[in-house]
Amino acid sequence: MGKKYFIKTFGCQMNFNDSERIRGILRTLGYEPTDNWEEADLILLNTCTIREKPDQKVLSHIGEYRKVKEKNPNALIAVSGCLAQRAGWELVQKAPAIDLMFSSFNMHQLPELINQAQAGYKAIAILDAPPEDEDALWEFPTERDNPYCAYVTVIKGCDKNCTYCVVPRTRGRERSRSLESILDEVKKLVDEGVREMHLLGQNVTAWGKDFENPLPFSELLYQVSKIEGVERIRFTTGHPRDLTDDIIEAIADIPQVCNALHLPFQAGSNRILELMDRKYTKEFYLERINRLKEAVPDIALSTDIIVGFPSETDEDFEHTLDVVREVEFEQIFSFKYSPRPGTPAADMGGQIPDEVKTERMGRLLELQKAIMSRLAKRYEGTVQEVLVEEEKQEGLLIGRTTTNKWSTFRGGRELLGKVVRVKVANASPFNLECEFMEVVR
Ligand code: SAH
Ligand code: SF4
Ligand code: F3S
Repeated sequence: MGKKYFIKTFGCQMNFNDSERIRGILRTLGYEPTDNWEEADLILLNTCTIREKPDQKVLSHIGEYRKVKEKNPNALIAVSGCLAQRAGWELVQKAPAIDLMFSSFNMHQLPELINQAQAGYKAIAILDAPPEDEDALWEFPTERDNPYCAYVTVIKGCDKNCTYCVVPRTRGRERSRSLESILDEVKKLVDEGVREMHLLGQNVTAWGKDFENPLPFSELLYQVSKIEGVERIRFTTGHPRDLTDDIIEAIADIPQVCNALHLPFQAGSNRILELMDRKYTKEFYLERINRLKEAVPDIALSTDIIVGFPSETDEDFEHTLDVVREVEFEQIFSFKYSPRPGTPAADMGGQIPDEVKTERMGRLLELQKAIMSRLAKRYEGTVQEVLVEEEKQEGLLIGRTTTNKWSTFRGGRELLGKVVRVKVANASPFNLECEFMEVVR
């Protein structure tokens, strides 16, 4: 009987893309996926450590999953990803059930690590920095869930060092993937039927800066759009500082680039932005947004916000609300500030009590709720193009507009993977109820 693996992924889209690569590697080793951890021979947690909560979740999951060994003493428990990179052996001490551990730097070593663990050793391979042969990873097959939309990692790591953030520690320095390697993967994906390419990086807009002959990110957008069969292009996450005019022009100019942009601003107060070391001001951010809206009037914006950064006053927080009011984001992802070991902000004075964070978060969400309902209403009666991704229930299809809105409508499975025109009958913040009109492409 073939061996089975169970994988659970936490964190950001890049981590999900890493899991798709890990699954590709496991496939080459003869492992089959299972949704039931109790019958797995290998349980893998691909972890996140961006805030304290995900850390705790991982530990409680290991506590549960280790019971797998009662029935199957040869079963292995593996931990990968950012928590593994950050905590290393410390994590094994807290959770001795862990048999093997690696991080995004060395996923390609998974086959040898499994061998070592099967031979009875603790196979812990946490490197200080990405190894020379890291690029080997691109050669492995990737196993994806969504047949029409694919994540394509184009740059790893982050050089920004925002004072609250662990990512530069867990993902290392910025390393851009070569243009050739990216275009090869995109061509392969098109051949497999993928229509939407979602380019990923912690700082995707910094792509190409580290090449011997630097290339601008906008060039990558043009190159990907020229590949026959690429219907849509998305990219996440951009940094406001790197959102140069040429990128804004490319978004406006390239029909395949979707009318949606995720651009975290984190905080509205210039004093807090400086403490965060974000290297821009509220005014700079708003100027970039206005420029974008001029170039792409119907662009849908989303953002990340941190609430309760050390020393944040009510007055500082008002500036955050101010940006939310002015920009009118379609979606915001807001997080209570969480001190991360080893980051400068964790040692800053003026840590904010949880009740204050909760109270500010409540105000933010209330404001955002009103904005979202108002923005959603604007969709009613409009005609939208939707890439059909999935049959949700029999006869009920679901896909996204170019502005990244989930849309549902009645139709048959033959429409899967097609771009269709629909009319919006009813709009709420998280779903557009539509009527099918016609197939576009
Ligand atoms: N590279 C992206 C963000 C990656 S992390 C960027 O710079 O925009 C995703 C989000 O998690 C961040 O945008 C931030 O809002 C949040 N985050 C990061 N560190 C955090 C911390 N210590 N506490 C709370 N939220 C945090
Ligand atoms: Fe973290 Fe800042 Fe880098 Fe984003 S840009 S990953 S928030 S250090
Ligand atoms: Fe989390 Fe690592 Fe992504 S810390 S958000 S999984 S880069």
